[in-house]
Amino acid sequence: MTKNPIVVGNWKMNLTLAEAVALAQASARGAEKVPAVRVGVAPSAPFLFPVAEAIRFRPGNFFIASQTVSPWPKGAYTGDVAGFQLKGAVDYAIIGHSEQRRWHGAAENVSEQIARCREVGLTPLVCFGEAKKTSRLAPAVLTDLKRDLAGLSSEVIATAVFAYEPIWAIGTGDTARPSYVQNAVSRVAEWFKSEFSITAPILYGGSVTAQNATGLSRVPAISGFLVGSASLHAGSFLAICQAAAEPL
Ligand code: PGA
Repeated sequence: MTKNPIVVGNWKMNLTLAEAVALAQASARGAEKVPAVRVGVAPSAPFLFPVAEAIRFRPGNFFIASQTVSPWPKGAYTGDVAGFQLKGAVDYAIIGHSEQRRWHGAAENVSEQIARCREVGLTPLVCFGEAKKTSRLAPAVLTDLKRDLAGLSSEVIATAVFAYEPIWAIGTGDTARPSYVQNAVSRVAEWFKSEFSITAPILYGGSVTAQNATGLSRVPAISGFLVGSASLHAGSFLAICQAAAEPL
């Protein structure tokens, strides 16, 4: 794991408002114990402002993320939430999560979403990863990333954080092995360097648990974790943050 790790809990479409507030408060308290880690949580859209309000006095290393952002700046887009509407509650926006790509066709809009984040000063957390398990990084991953980043300048891409999430590992318990993650992520990092001359933070996501986080945190190429189901309990989420803080 690189220095200054980032661990984000993606709560997806789970929790009531009361549960979301309680979990955010517990996670923020836990974040105080891992000052070297930037810790974030991503509640459902209607809970972003109440959660932000409930943790007004959060530690400086704790932030809130939205689970997506509209590719359009404003206007007649029923159901969408624009970047400027998220500002004030969130610092990051998850973009291109495989579930958004699958159910909402978000694959078409990743570069626009990154551009919208840039306009309003949100950090885009851009997800990518292959659908099928392979013995090494599937070339399609780089083709997809190229399309996702099309038309953006290196300067804009440099504001993003990325998350390598093999789709076969998400929500399946079939976590990618540390050597597999190292291989894939270092290959993508090289590509970022040659294509855009940037060193981008790349997190790993896909069935990260309190049990496997220690092993994964020894992967030199990654800069943290994007955590789904294990982030729905403060205990397991904070154990993962702790593992990110102490990779050795
Ligand atoms: P998971 O989800 O940890 O439940 O596999 C990860 C994600 O979808 O970001």
